Amino acid sequence: MSNTKNYILAIESSCDDTSAAVLCNTKVLSNVVATQEIHKQYGGVVPELASRAHQQNIVPVVHQALAKANIDKKELSAIAFTRGPGLMGSLLVGTSFAKSLALGLDIPLIEVNHMEAHILAHFIDDEERTPPTFPFIGMTISGGHTQIVKVSDYFSMEVLGETLDDAVGEAFDKSAKLMGLPYPGGPLIDKYAKLGNENAFQFPKPKVDGLNFSFSGLKTSILYFLQRETQKNPDFVSENMNDICASVQYTILEILMEKLQLAVEQTGIKQIAIGGGVAANSGIRGRLAEAETQMGWETYVPKFEYCTDNAGMIGIVGYLKFKRSEFTDQSIAAKARYAIGS
Ligand code: KG4
Ligand code: ZN
Repeated sequence: MSNTKNYILAIESSCDDTSAAVLCNTKVLSNVVATQEIHKQYGGVVPELASRAHQQNIVPVVHQALAKANIDKKELSAIAFTRGPGLMGSLLVGTSFAKSLALGLDIPLIEVNHMEAHILAHFIDDEERTPPTFPFIGMTISGGHTQIVKVSDYFSMEVLGETLDDAVGEAFDKSAKLMGLPYPGGPLIDKYAKLGNENAFQFPKPKVDGLNFSFSGLKTSILYFLQRETQKNPDFVSENMNDICASVQYTILEILMEKLQLAVEQTGIKQIAIGGGVAANSGIRGRLAEAETQMGWETYVPKFEYCTDNAGMIGIVGYLKFKRSEFTDQSIAAKARYAIGS
């Protein structure tokens, strides 16, 4: 890499987090995230409210990112933004803001695919971590996505499998909701699971061929299980919270690990790099560490702030594209459905 300092402002607004980051080459100088608390009371993201909150947040969040990085907007080399996939009303806010700012400052505009960004977040400069080398298997596990990708180079990715229905984060959140836990329930399941017996209850694993996933059946089987048990004992959930959480988490982790194992067998690649909000789960981190010693895998998990939705990961893609002069023009439009490599 050359010694030139390129400052990239990145903007992320695909779902319910408004985020802006400033990078100097591969180093993140600031990464500001405004999480929209309003959705909590609805138990999930409400698209219209998300879009409105992005409109309110975007200017202060960008200001804060520039201030924290101590960079004046005149020093910026380019503006990167999430074009998709995501919620259209949310994407539109970041896209139009990025376009206007790039036009006003007369600097290049760079569009970024959010799913590529989750994977390329591993290349953000981090003193405590080394990035994976190519080729590797990327697995993005979040509230919106579940995907296994073969990554041959920065921009040479092939989706090997993805969910046919719910994302893995939704499986955590919906199971938690059935147990009466608040949204998002994933972190709570993780917390209670540590205190429970993972073999206390058995839930069926879906039979999905190849590297695709399905999580909607698991939610249904948990619903029926809880209905059956609470008919016998109305306090069943509160009396068995830790064991239920441990068993639900165990089932979800078994599904993820089986698919990863199949991906390793199919590709011969033993480098696994995960990302997305569910990568925060202590259980999956434990299972990956186990796979390192038992199966000789090399596993990678980015710093937590680069796992959940954030503009830092958009900025690293922005920088990589900037180096290749991959710019876009003002005719660009947000793209709610935007497959990797399309
Ligand atoms: O990446 P993210 O912040 O947003 C999306 O793009 O969806 O992921 C949020 C998801 C939620 O479903 C949340 O419950 C889940 O990540 N999550 C967890 C944990 N921390 C966050 N799931 C299980 N265990 C955790 N520790
Ligand atoms: Zn995401």
